[in-house]
Amino acid sequence: MVRARRGRRLLGARPRRARPRPAARRPDVHPAHRRLPAGPADRRGPQGAGPAGAAGRGHRRRRHRRRRRGPRQPLRRHPRAPRRGGEVSTAREAAPPWCTAPGDPYAQALRAGRGPLFLRRHDGWLLPLDVERWCATADEADLAALGRCEGAVLDIGCGPGRLVAALAGRGRRTLGIDISQAAVAHTLALGGQALRRSVFARLPGEGRWGTVLLLDGNIGIGGDPRRLLLRCAQLLAPGGLLIAETVPVDVDERLWVRVDDGMGRSSPQFPWARLGTEALLRHARPPLWRTADHWTTPEREFVALRRSTGVAPAAAMEAEAPGRG
Ligand SMILES: C[S@@+](CC[C@H](N)C(=O)[O-])C[C@H]1O[C@@H](n2cnc3c(N)ncnc32)[C@H](O)[C@@H]1O
Repeated sequence: MVRARRGRRLLGARPRRARPRPAARRPDVHPAHRRLPAGPADRRGPQGAGPAGAAGRGHRRRRHRRRRRGPRQPLRRHPRAPRRGGEVSTAREAAPPWCTAPGDPYAQALRAGRGPLFLRRHDGWLLPLDVERWCATADEADLAALGRCEGAVLDIGCGPGRLVAALAGRGRRTLGIDISQAAVAHTLALGGQALRRSVFARLPGEGRWGTVLLLDGNIGIGGDPRRLLLRCAQLLAPGGLLIAETVPVDVDERLWVRVDDGMGRSSPQFPWARLGTEALLRHARPPLWRTADHWTTPEREFVALRRSTGVAPAAAMEAEAPGRG
């Protein structure tokens, strides 16, 4: 039997065996994230935003100062950063992604309940993170996704826990996992069940979850969607449901990023991925996966994938040559 914190039973018996920030440093913002103002139009690239406008220059100056002071890594292309269309090596996972003590900008944003917070891409682009929404209660788009959940739910990368809390409030057995201590603490404070654990580590209830959630861009975790999909298939019960949120533009990107507060504090670099729906469906294919549902809200896009009942995840993924089809 699996128990999360506070001893609540989650699954059945195991089978045998802020303050407002100064407006002066306006960041450049990726076009897939229209919520925040983008950098100056004349600095925009072909997709509508540029890699480093006014704010970017400011960051470079600050980075330069830091470099002279010593130990922090300068922002530059990582020697093993994925090339356009290339694969991220998963042999080396930057550690620890998202959170690093002390001065972890993600933890600080979660404690404050607000940004600004960004994923800073290796080339300087800033992808805004919606900390305010993550720290609020579940909204309509969230509820539409949660309403599709079946059985016990595993929320991968649960962040501050609004989805875990909403599901628990509806009486659904739910566990959040996250590598960030601040995220787990926030989720527990909301009354949810949560573990500080990577999705790639050993987890309770492997192969028995009814639904696995990868919302808010979490299909990017680990920077290798095929590997993450395989992991989700291993976590799900045969016939279980994976609900993933995709980027609402046509994108299939592996990248190196840092969590960055736009004010000079950032995490170490780690691999990430961004996938639109078409890209996700190229990776999640029969015989292991079939598309169960696809829906959009005014600002977000979601896909539900059903794990097959008759195929072993690893065998199915191995049988597929990467990039085939
Ligand atoms: C884009 S945020 C998602 C926010 C979250 N869904 C929410 O509702 O607030 C990504 C989250 O994934 C977590 N994360 C990153 N890598 C992870 C991993 N390998 N295993 C579990 N969680 C991870 C981060 O700590 C972060 O909280």
